[in-house]
Amino acid sequence: MQKKGVDAWTAEKEKERDAKPAYRVIFKPDNREVSVPEGSTLLEAAVSADVHLNASCNGKGSCDKCKLIVEFGRLETKPSAQLSESEKEKKYVLACQSRVVGDVTVKIPPETLEKN
Ligand code: FES
Repeated sequence: MQKKGVDAWTAEKEKERDAKPAYRVIFKPDNREVSVPEGSTLLEAAVSADVHLNASCNGKGSCDKCKLIVEFGRLETKPSAQLSESEKEKKYVLACQSRVVGDVTVKIPPETLEKN
């Protein structure tokens, strides 16, 4: 079996990324906007938009600090025991467990903003 060079591997990954459609993510209340490839998590989109969210577990889905409220759009979200039924009814999601599959607008609740 032949090994691929790092450059060839990187080029292949970039080609895969560029082939995916991109979607717009808007973070309220500041209306920060970013375009990300399909399948990116909201946490990755926040990093790209320079929006600082609490993410103590680094995206493992266990700290429940990265809560966002979906105002518009569609996501693929992994079910999470970290969210209460009341939060789910209010359209809360975990940013690290939610993948972008279309244009989306989310609101950042105050408790999710990372304090400096
Ligand atoms: S970063 Fe910890 S649950 Fe999302």
